[in-house]
Amino acid sequence: MRSIVNFQLSIFNYTRVVSIPLQSRLPRTYRIKEIKQETEMVRTYTFDGSLGARPGQFVMVWLPGVDEVPMSVAFDDGAVTKITFFAVGDMTDELARASVGDLIGLRGPFGTFYEWQPGQHIVLVAGGYGAAPMYFVAKETVGHGCTLEVIVGARGKEHLLYLEELESLPHVSLHIATNDGSVGYKGYNVDVLEKLLASCPVPPDSARGGKKKCLPVDQVFACGPERMLKRVSEITAHYSVPSQLSLERYMKCGYGLCGNCTVDPLGIRLCVEGPVVKNDLCVQITEFGRYHRDALGKKTMFS
Ligand SMILES: Cc1cc2nc3c(=O)[nH]c(=O)nc-3n(C[C@H](O)[C@H](O)[C@H](O)COP(=O)(O)OP(=O)(O)OC[C@H]3O[C@@H](n4cnc5c(N)ncnc54)[C@H](O)[C@@H]3O)c2cc1C
Ligand code: FES
Repeated sequence: MRSIVNFQLSIFNYTRVVSIPLQSRLPRTYRIKEIKQETEMVRTYTFDGSLGARPGQFVMVWLPGVDEVPMSVAFDDGAVTKITFFAVGDMTDELARASVGDLIGLRGPFGTFYEWQPGQHIVLVAGGYGAAPMYFVAKETVGHGCTLEVIVGARGKEHLLYLEELESLPHVSLHIATNDGSVGYKGYNVDVLEKLLASCPVPPDSARGGKKKCLPVDQVFACGPERMLKRVSEITAHYSVPSQLSLERYMKCGYGLCGNCTVDPLGIRLCVEGPVVKNDLCVQITEFGRYHRDALGKKTMFS
């Protein structure tokens, strides 16, 4: 039944799909220019070309004969493109064996991106490899006169990513949370978010910029594990702060055709209407924080 609905959705959305340029839908090879071993299991590859990606968008990374998987764009300045990835399975283990000079297939960029207004005060919440796209957001937003509170979380200090890069940016206040307390706040990054919003709630529009000692938060952007995103959704809804969250589902085509990344009950495709989704829409996705589907469409509950 679900596949019939997805098929109908695919036909229905065909006109939107063809608006994605053909050259983005086909893989092109890019040479690895630089490799950075971030942690034991995480690597960043810099490719010798730009895909014109905006912060929050993703690319499909292709290793012929192995697999093709989605990855967030960690950086794109018009000259180079970066991805940061965990080696967690067949494709990513093989990808981690690549060397400088090797050619890798990339398709994209795909999906929605984070949106902001110049001069806004924004909180970024990052967990796991989510720190990479959040750095891309940070770099672009400070260039537009935004000020940032960035909360990076990990299990322990050896798993924290992109701290040096974030610290090097102006107008960034960095907060660190580790589950084991090895550095920064002992606990979750979302606890830090809650404390931050509680200490500086959003005033009514007329009182914005009033006598408060802290800057009212205009928006919260988040990228990380789904359980973390669910808490960000709940906390920001409670404090009436708009938020944009990067949601992930199993992706195949990446541009709206196969229907594999649709979510219940809305049927929106997260490769087109996401991955960055405004919280007003996230709260209508009943599977959000509860389950996702594998390559065959079988439900898997989030633990
Ligand atoms: C929009 C988006 C952005 C992502 N960005 C990043 C990133 O920046 N860095 C990073 O390390 N990972 C990212 N991922 C996750 C990444 O796609 C998976 O880690 C990768 O596909 C694992 O493939 P594998 O063959 O190595 O492992 P497998 O053993 O095949 O899979 C391990 C797990 O990865 C997930 N996965 C596998 N294939 C897919 C797929 N086609 N689509 C979605 N999830 C899949 C499943 O949850 C699976 O259980 C992103 C996923 C999405 C949807
Ligand atoms: S519709 Fe194919 S991955 Fe989203």
